[in-house]
Amino acid sequence: MDKLLITGGTALKGEIAISGAKNAALPLMATALMAEEGMVLDNLPSLADTDCMCELLAHLGVESVREGDTVSFASARGAETDAPYEIVRKMRASVLVLGPLLARYGRARVSLPGGCAIGSRPVDLHIMAMEALGAKVTLEEGDVLAEAAGGLIGGDVVFPTVSVGATENVLMAAALAKGTSRLINVAREPEIIDLAECLIAMGAKISGQGTDVIEVEGVTALTSCRHAVVADRIEAGTFALAAAITQGQITLTHARADHLASLFAAMAASGVQVEIDGDRITVTATERPRPVDITTDPYPGFPTDLQAQFMALMTVASGTSQVAETIFENRFMHVPELARMGANIQVNGGHALVRGVEQLTAAPVMATDLRASVSLVLAALVAEGETTLQRVYHLDRGYDRLEEKLSACGAKIRRVRG
Ligand code: EPZ
Repeated sequence: MDKLLITGGTALKGEIAISGAKNAALPLMATALMAEEGMVLDNLPSLADTDCMCELLAHLGVESVREGDTVSFASARGAETDAPYEIVRKMRASVLVLGPLLARYGRARVSLPGGCAIGSRPVDLHIMAMEALGAKVTLEEGDVLAEAAGGLIGGDVVFPTVSVGATENVLMAAALAKGTSRLINVAREPEIIDLAECLIAMGAKISGQGTDVIEVEGVTALTSCRHAVVADRIEAGTFALAAAITQGQITLTHARADHLASLFAAMAASGVQVEIDGDRITVTATERPRPVDITTDPYPGFPTDLQAQFMALMTVASGTSQVAETIFENRFMHVPELARMGANIQVNGGHALVRGVEQLTAAPVMATDLRASVSLVLAALVAEGETTLQRVYHLDRGYDRLEEKLSACGAKIRRVRG
């Protein structure tokens, strides 16, 4: 298994071009199952997760060809509607083929994705939503079997709690349902807006995306389209925090500052300067960060996907801060690894009390999940000595050319193939 060797102490300076968003790319790729004549996605990041989704789509009859950051998807040949465990277990987001398969073919068999490091990751809200559109859903031998022989019927879908993935699944399903659907208490993330805009380009009739109620008037078929994946706000936020923790200056390009308001507010409170000029964001830090309390929340609140990275910054703050994680039940896997580097953090349920220290020290540490891994990279960039980060396959799931982008800003980081 590959590992990363990182020597801390360099203030990062330079420019980083932000890639397309992983969490937009995956649902957008699933819509290829619905496009009668295929589709093209630009700005599609090259990640382990997008490779896995291409593998699943090929299994389901949609071949794809990548040329740089553009991927062309052929129209589905045949109606394979079973997403098998050996593919789904590698990536939970495989569940996002449920809505498209059900909408297009009236049938879908998708293996239950199983949990992961950050939580049990149930799909009950996905199932509830499909049943609300008239599907008959049963669980068989670890698979979700959904059927709607006469097609899905539009209707009201009311979510008891906000779910990004379930919102995406039901949005795709409702696009081809008979009649109108009102999706209530849905996620408002930018990735939802991007998905809706792509579906509209394919002929879907959708309004309200970005608010907590989306209205969909079903159509009989979706045509092809060419769509550019929205910029990755989590990647951008991660590199903004790399500038902050190393007290350097990084300019992010091809970024969407409007998607990062909650992070930038916390960074400003911590003493970090953020200058916005269109799609260019310059982040400058010249002093030790001040402590800032954060609580994760669905968009537009503080993103749970930036919680670990912000906590890394707080480990070297000039005081004590509190990090509250409200979205996932086990998203503090980075804490014991940060502690190995000298961080002083007490966890109590979904709350972490972070007492800032003057200096972190390098140590061998272990990546456990995607965002915990990158928080260890941030800590290593400022720790004294050389940190070894094991199990970097977690990182490769969600960051396109991470060490290349950081090295270009002066980071001493290299990959050892294992
Ligand atoms: C998406 O996961 C993202 N993944 C996650 O990013 C992100 O952390 C999460 O949204 C929240 O923003 C992708 O977009 C591929 P949820 P998702 O459904 O859709 C519970 C990363 O690091 N829930 O909004 O799975 C769930 O357990 C990844 O890039 C149910 O109870 O998240 C969680 O506690 C990690 N039943 C909460 O809702 C369900 O049926 C929010 O989950 C579904 C979810």
